[in-house]
Amino acid sequence: MNNSLRLQEELNKIQFQGAILTSPESIRYFSGFTSADGLVFVGQGLTALVTDSRYWAQAEVQCPQVDLIKFQSHIDISLASALNTYLKYKNFSGKIAIEGDSLTFDRFTQLNEELVINGPCTELKSLSSLISSLRLVKTAEELQAIAKSAAVADLAWQKTLPSFKEGITEADLCAELEYQMQKCGARKPSFDTIVASGLNGAYPHATVTDRVIQSGELITVDFGCLVDGWCSDITRTIWLGELDSKSQEIWQTVRRAHDTALEAVKPGLQGCELDKIARDIITGAGYGEYFSHSLGHGVGLAVHEGPGLRRESMTILTPGMTCTIEPGIYVPGFGGCRIEDLVYVTDNGFKKLSNAPYQILGMKHPLEAYTK
Ligand code: CO
Ligand code: CO
Repeated sequence: MNNSLRLQEELNKIQFQGAILTSPESIRYFSGFTSADGLVFVGQGLTALVTDSRYWAQAEVQCPQVDLIKFQSHIDISLASALNTYLKYKNFSGKIAIEGDSLTFDRFTQLNEELVINGPCTELKSLSSLISSLRLVKTAEELQAIAKSAAVADLAWQKTLPSFKEGITEADLCAELEYQMQKCGARKPSFDTIVASGLNGAYPHATVTDRVIQSGELITVDFGCLVDGWCSDITRTIWLGELDSKSQEIWQTVRRAHDTALEAVKPGLQGCELDKIARDIITGAGYGEYFSHSLGHGVGLAVHEGPGLRRESMTILTPGMTCTIEPGIYVPGFGGCRIEDLVYVTDNGFKKLSNAPYQILGMKHPLEAYTK
């Protein structure tokens, strides 16, 4: 069954007659259109795309099965008014779900004026999580696309590591890694690459700086790319030379938490249970207060999507879901460490999609991991 039909079924269950999709991921997932410049309407027996003349030819190729509503600014005031004309023509009436988490207030106001005040819609209601929940379980094809994205990130990492030497800055290492990802087949990074060295490692989502990387300190590199629209997300913590004992202890604790949680991934487990496995190890080692974020998240068309592996997450892992396992320790005034891998849930366990080897204690450079 195609994705638009699946959405129509879900809407039916809650007596909604339509949905307006505005996030780039939903537009693509439910219509096949790969630009975010437009909006998609899904109703009973119909899927329509409203977009302007820059995209008409593209839309006709990418989604021939979808009704193309040609927006022209000299005829319609907004995408919403073009949609209103279409809905009236189709004799639509009823409640419409929207994605509040991707809609600006201005666009919401337009939709409300056109479709509710002057149109056939009785209610607009944000149902973002219901809409995104349809993307939770991936098809075999989707998993293959995500695996390809992860493989590109892995290869780019290997090609970047020869540049990792004393004297390089965070910004240069970041530039090299992003260049290699593009050379290896990515369109762009799937999020802002993080290279956090030394003290900067204390910020889980540090901004890249011109700081020169020093020998003997932990460097957290969190990266991923977009290949054919699908994301990857991986983190390796690396260093040059030898680590002091506290850095070693932090790295070892994170690695143990990461490996234990990763090995535990299987269908039936709740997000919170998996988070607890890693958190208990880090807390037991005395670093609980420094593991300040959740264990992981799903990856697909968006780099952060469901299932959330959080302390309060009741989502049950199901075959076909993806998730990252990414425990970390961040000590203010000292530094930090995170190890992140991307896996998917199989019928009886998991399959790892990110496979770049880990630098382990005793190695003076991360490339040594490739020859062991
Ligand atoms: Co990451
Ligand atoms: Co992540």
